[in-house]
Amino acid sequence: MQDLILSIESSCDDSSIALTQISDKKLIFHQKISQEKEHSSYGGVVPELASRLHAEALPLILEKTKPYLKQVKAVAVTTEPGLNITLLEGLMMAKTLAFSLEVPLIAINHLKGHLYSLFLEKEAIFPLGVLLVSGGHTMLIEARSFEEIKIVARSIDDSFGESFDKVAKMLGLGYPGGPIVESYAKRGEASSFSFPVPLNSKTKFAFSFSGLKNAIRLEIEKFREDGGFEDKERLEIFRANLSASFQKVACEHLLKKCKIFFENDQKSKDSWEHFAVVGGASANLFLRENLQKMCESYTKTLLLAPLEFCSDNAAMIGRVGIESYLKGEFSSPFNIKTKPKVSDFNANFSEDI
Ligand code: KG4
Ligand code: ZN
Repeated sequence: MQDLILSIESSCDDSSIALTQISDKKLIFHQKISQEKEHSSYGGVVPELASRLHAEALPLILEKTKPYLKQVKAVAVTTEPGLNITLLEGLMMAKTLAFSLEVPLIAINHLKGHLYSLFLEKEAIFPLGVLLVSGGHTMLIEARSFEEIKIVARSIDDSFGESFDKVAKMLGLGYPGGPIVESYAKRGEASSFSFPVPLNSKTKFAFSFSGLKNAIRLEIEKFREDGGFEDKERLEIFRANLSASFQKVACEHLLKKCKIFFENDQKSKDSWEHFAVVGGASANLFLRENLQKMCESYTKTLLLAPLEFCSDNAAMIGRVGIESYLKGEFSSPFNIKTKPKVSDFNANFSEDI
């Protein structure tokens, strides 16, 4: 009978539970119930609705873990960052389980989870440079060990994934916008619109997507005033061309900042051999292909999480949970808290910007 970590993820709109073997990191159970359909008509996640849906979905998944509960040695749960009322749903379940099974609780940083989605069922590789692109965050990270994870650049406004969601919403395409806009972009002509690349000066080592989003909004308004939304055929061509032009510039922005990151790394004496892209938006194939080329030109190896585990999931939370368990990093059920903001990073995930 192998010892297991039970992990819970509920930071946004995915309810997920996993069971991972402590000795060899093998994932023995994983299930996720996504709420995409329920939020789609709103064009984004509605926190109150998300919280209610977690309250329904998490017990349904937990039911399936019953045969394994005697083997569980700790409960790992995402506590930060995320939507406070959805994090609380996972945390309440984690506390109840920890009390009833008489095992320790482990608080997990969701972003560290995305980082460890690279290392499911395997050993971690350090040092590495990381681009994290999700619905809530866009950042460049230098990871030197489990403890030493430093954010070196981040978005000053919207995130990369969020900008796809907002473009999809403005084009009337539903939620989540990433996969929809990417598939429209494949059919479109990227040179149809020319948008300026955000923060295109070398001095500002950060990301920004709100200006680009506004430029897109103006094009959509012009098209609407011109009656474009009433002509189905014209609308489909417009959606494809605009998606392609937007995706190209949004990725170009990421790639330019990654280039600075690579250049800085070349000058460091402790340079990393591996570069990774993680987070829900790392599923974007256009971005992956371009990062692959950049890695080749700097002789770095590109690491990717399996596509299925790019977006939020409890397997990645369990993987971090194993590291914390082995180091004895437990939280008291009496003062464990949810922390919605990324500025609340714990000491293991410092900011240096
Ligand atoms: O990591 P994730 O599941 O949730 C957060 O932690 O935020 O990321 C979800 C985000 C959404 O904004 C979604 O639109 C975006 O990732 N996304 C993509 C793609 N697939 C998902 N963005 C661009 N291209 C994609 N193929
Ligand atoms: Zn996430």
